[in-house]
Amino acid sequence: MAPDELEGEVQKGLEGVIIDESEISRVFGDEGKINIRGYNIEDIAEYADLPETLYLVWNGELPTQEEYETFSDDMASRRALPEEILECLHNYAEADLHPMDAMMAATVNLAGYDEHIIAGKPQTFEDKIPEVMEMGKSITAKLPTITAAYQRIREGKEPIEPREDLKTGENFLYMLQGEVPPELFAEALETEIQIHVDHGANASTFTSRVVASAMANPFEAVTSAMGALAGPLHGAANQDALNMLADMDESDKSLEDWVQDRFDRGDVIYGWGHRVYNVYDPRAKIVREYAEEIIDSPYGDDKWYKLARELEEYLMENTELAENGIAPNVDYYSGTVYQQIGIPTDIYTNLFTMSRVGGWIGHIIEQYSDNRIIRPRVKYTGPVDLEWTEMDER
Ligand code: MLT
Repeated sequence: MAPDELEGEVQKGLEGVIIDESEISRVFGDEGKINIRGYNIEDIAEYADLPETLYLVWNGELPTQEEYETFSDDMASRRALPEEILECLHNYAEADLHPMDAMMAATVNLAGYDEHIIAGKPQTFEDKIPEVMEMGKSITAKLPTITAAYQRIREGKEPIEPREDLKTGENFLYMLQGEVPPELFAEALETEIQIHVDHGANASTFTSRVVASAMANPFEAVTSAMGALAGPLHGAANQDALNMLADMDESDKSLEDWVQDRFDRGDVIYGWGHRVYNVYDPRAKIVREYAEEIIDSPYGDDKWYKLARELEEYLMENTELAENGIAPNVDYYSGTVYQQIGIPTDIYTNLFTMSRVGGWIGHIIEQYSDNRIIRPRVKYTGPVDLEWTEMDER
């Protein structure tokens, strides 16, 4: 076949296409299981914190006590933002940018403050993996600060400086809410961040690899990946799931009629179904356990979790969704926990980003280390060799 005939079958959405090799995560779609560098996600949720998870993702092995402490302190020391970035956040708030867009703009701006990026000079990164890791640490450490500062500015409040002595989840809630949170809230949030860290060749991770394969710098690759994650078919689904529960709550219809109406309109149930899983997403189970733990604690607000459970039970018993391999994924319950903790709905996708950035950096490193530019083909289906029609004859 001549190279321009392109007669092969189109794999819409690249379904089933293996794009490269990776040693970072494996998603077992039929079993409802995830391994990160070979470790079960449940063990990561139970035994690790975020720095330990990131160390594992980026280095391929668990840190020793000394490595952990050095790494964790290093990450905490990178949390503060340059004054100019805070000024940018004020401007973005004036323009009413969505928190994801503000985060994207601020992240790419950070390249201007990183000694590894040499402005105006083309750079390659395949032989600079330690430097890429340094950039990755700085980006990852600063995303919670960007998100919290931007949210406070939007609320007309002063941003709060990060604290190095607090753990990631604790520090984020402190910067967002102005006080050190209850331990359970901090732990639930940090665990949510850990379990979202990587998930095979999802759309944003694929984007990060595509952009890195062109030898764009890590700031550009991460920012592009954020664009993919911002979409409602990817990272913004957690926000849509919560909004859907709000719609269910406000409706005066019976649950049966509300569900039927949704199906009649062709609306999906947000947070249900997944390209890879035929069964319950294991991350949804971990999140659900935290939701229940928070309800049983003195701070328990159970409104959103109860609604989600009610809808899940109804759908499981009265529809064939589960038999057809459509079950809750992580987005279905993550928002119920964020609500319990007092996090506003439209920064949910930023929280997802604060986690997934760890996976992106790992994949960007893999891509730079063994690169071939990602350049697939598209099957052209339009006309060819048309005769030109002059403007006045059209
Ligand atoms: C993710 O974690 O990225 C989502 O579950 C979507 C995916 O894997 O495609």
